[in-house]
Amino acid sequence: MRFHILTLFPEVAEACLKSSILGRAEKNGCLSFHVVNIRDYTLDKHKKVDDYTYGGGAGMLMQAQPVYDAWRSVQDTAAAGPLRTIYVTPQGRTFTQRIAGELAQEKELIFLCGHYEGIDERALEETVTDQISIGDYVLTGGELPAMVMIDAIARLVPGVLHNEESTQTESFQNGLLEYPQYSRPPVWHGRAVPEVLLSGDHKKVEEWRLEQSLRRTRERRPELYEAYCNRRDEET
Ligand code: ADE
Repeated sequence: MRFHILTLFPEVAEACLKSSILGRAEKNGCLSFHVVNIRDYTLDKHKKVDDYTYGGGAGMLMQAQPVYDAWRSVQDTAAAGPLRTIYVTPQGRTFTQRIAGELAQEKELIFLCGHYEGIDERALEETVTDQISIGDYVLTGGELPAMVMIDAIARLVPGVLHNEESTQTESFQNGLLEYPQYSRPPVWHGRAVPEVLLSGDHKKVEEWRLEQSLRRTRERRPELYEAYCNRRDEET
C-alpha cells in the first residue's frame, strides 16, 4: 500500500514513517511512503504558502494554489483512477478501527495536512474525498493526526506485522477491549498469574479471555459494551 502525505513539515512525517515497524515494512516492500512538501509547489517568488483570511479574523490560511498543485502532482502519478484524499481536520468524522479497516483496502491514499487556520475552502472542494478527525481536541497541525491514522491503517496491511494473529484478537477488532495478558515469571511482587492460563486447557483459556474482555469493556467503555450486546442480540 502506498501513502502520499502532503505537508508543510515533511521532516515530521519522515521521522515517524522511517522508523520502527513502518520503516521495516517500507524496506520489505509492504508499504511505501511519499512525502510531498507543499511549499515546493508555490508559485510565489518568496515561497509563501499562506495569507490573511478574507473577512478578517486571527491567523493565516494555506492558499489554494500550492495545495492544489501539490495534490495534482500526486494524482497525475496514480496508476489507477483518482485517489481517495483525506483531509485531516477536527471538523471531520471521528476516526475508528472500522474506518482504519476500510481505508486499508485501498491501494493508495493521499493525506492532506493543514496548518495555521486551515486551507482555503476552494482547494478542499476540488481535492478532498474524506474529512477525518482523530478526536474532539485541536492540535497545531495535521501531521500528528495523519501519522496516527497511517499507523492504524498500515498495521492492517498483510505482511506489515509479523504475527498476523495479533490484529485478530486485540482491542476493537471484535468491538471489545482486549483481555489482560501475562508473561513470565508466574509470580511477581506476590501477584500470581491467573491459574487457568497455566492449565494448558485452550478451551478454558478462550472462555476466560472472553469473560475478561466483556468485563473490561463493560467497566471501562460501557457504550462499546452496549453496542456489542445489541449486535449479539441481533445475530441470535
Ligand atoms: N488537526 C488539528 N486537530 C486535529 C484533530 N483533532 N484531528 C485531525 N486533525 C486535526
